[in-house]
Amino acid sequence: MLAVALCLHLAAGAQATTYADVAPIFATRCAKCHAERGLMGPAPEGYRLNSYEATLSTVDRVRVVPGHPEASELVRRIRGQALPRMPFDGPPLEVAARARRDDLPAPGDYVEVRGRIGRDGAVAVERIRPR
Ligand code: HEC
Repeated sequence: MLAVALCLHLAAGAQATTYADVAPIFATRCAKCHAERGLMGPAPEGYRLNSYEATLSTVDRVRVVPGHPEASELVRRIRGQALPRMPFDGPPLEVAARARRDDLPAPGDYVEVRGRIGRDGAVAVERIRPR
């Protein structure tokens, strides 16, 4: 869900989006692995997502091509155009903007989800509610 928000951010408002918009998403969803000492040890592929400089770093290779999200490995990984899809530990859930959210669930809640499974295995959530 957050990853999708990030995609939309990058895709829709390229000019309006700044690092400040996406930093909280990277911090909660990505930097637990993509950091010096993350869940999987050293940052996967040596790629850290815990600072602006590290995110844009081209030391090993280019992952962000400014102004060109379609050419950016970072965006392609989130969209699932490059595999494995990121976040590595996250379900490919996409919650539609029009999805019904009855009593917004909190992290850790057990939820009931109604949606459709796409050809790529992603679940497009149409309804989500606590159980
Ligand atoms: C659970 C750990 C984990 C999390 C969380 C995670 N990643 Fe990754 N990431 C990996 C692993 C492992 C790889 C290497 C996979 C491969 O390419 O074989 C990787 C690779 C990447 C790459 C490719 C780097 C390169 O140089 O090839 C990008 C870009 C990336 N991740 C971005 C993200 C983003 C953005 C998020 C958050 C939305 C994220 N990752 C969350 C584990 C994680």
